[in-house]
Amino acid sequence: MDQVKIFTPASVANVSCGFDVLGFCLEPVGDEMVIRKVESSGLKITKIVGESLPLDVKKNVAGLAAEAILKAHPQKAGFEIEIYKNIKAGSGIGSSAASAAGAVFGINELLGKPFTAHELIAFAMEGEALASGSAHADNVAPVLMGGITLVRSINPIDVIQLPTPKELTAVILHPKIELKTMHAREIIKKNVTMEKAIQQWGNLGAFVSALFNEDYGLMSRSLKDEIIEPVRSLLIPEFDSLKKASISAGALGFGISGSGPSVYALTKGMKTAQKVSKAIDEIISPIGIDFEIHLSNINDQGIKILSN
Ligand code: HSE
Repeated sequence: MDQVKIFTPASVANVSCGFDVLGFCLEPVGDEMVIRKVESSGLKITKIVGESLPLDVKKNVAGLAAEAILKAHPQKAGFEIEIYKNIKAGSGIGSSAASAAGAVFGINELLGKPFTAHELIAFAMEGEALASGSAHADNVAPVLMGGITLVRSINPIDVIQLPTPKELTAVILHPKIELKTMHAREIIKKNVTMEKAIQQWGNLGAFVSALFNEDYGLMSRSLKDEIIEPVRSLLIPEFDSLKKASISAGALGFGISGSGPSVYALTKGMKTAQKVSKAIDEIISPIGIDFEIHLSNINDQGIKILSN
């Protein structure tokens, strides 16, 4: 196999109660990438369509992630990467993670799969670090492993795949304003009170338990974030009204997707997701910014091979 074409999906990180540790993978939104093994040595990004991003390997998240895997598994052959972006950079649904994870997944395929999906996380994270200023795996983990993941530790990498309740459905609103993760990380408070920490780990533990037991009521009670959301939500137009309307329309929970500006709601079933989507539309339409709403099942597969 000398070439592989893949679909590398968008993802939602944090999921309210799991800042930097929880994430899930979306189905309908994602980039395509072509990764090719060539005779001449070296690594090149030969094409980027859909976004104006650097072709320079050292300045591109996919390039840095690809370099990391090739350092761990040196090759005489070279590799070329083409990236077809559909996920906007700075949208909060894991644009850089899709590129970084896609690059290491594709190269791993062409190398004959020397690494497991879990092992690929470390390489992809090196790309993510460029985009956000610090390493975290809550977007790359679900993209590489599929479904919903919990990052117990990044040093060493220890990521757990959580079960996906059958009816769990996501609604994503992407207001088309750019919010850089690096900036959204700078504004969060560096200290957390004991009271807030207790609430957060109570909610995170409860959410994980709710996923195992398909307990939608408990999911709803635990999808809370009183640490990061109060600060970051100030940068998101109509956040409070969107949240209120989504919960009234039946959402289990509503919060910021990754570092924003996208927001997400989780629902039990597609019917409720449609009601939530309508409620969101009614609030966001009149304010006159461009936006997209996506309805999605949880993507348990993660990256998909389209052809090889
Ligand atoms: N956990 C990360 C953050 C996700 O919220 O900053 C965005 O890359």
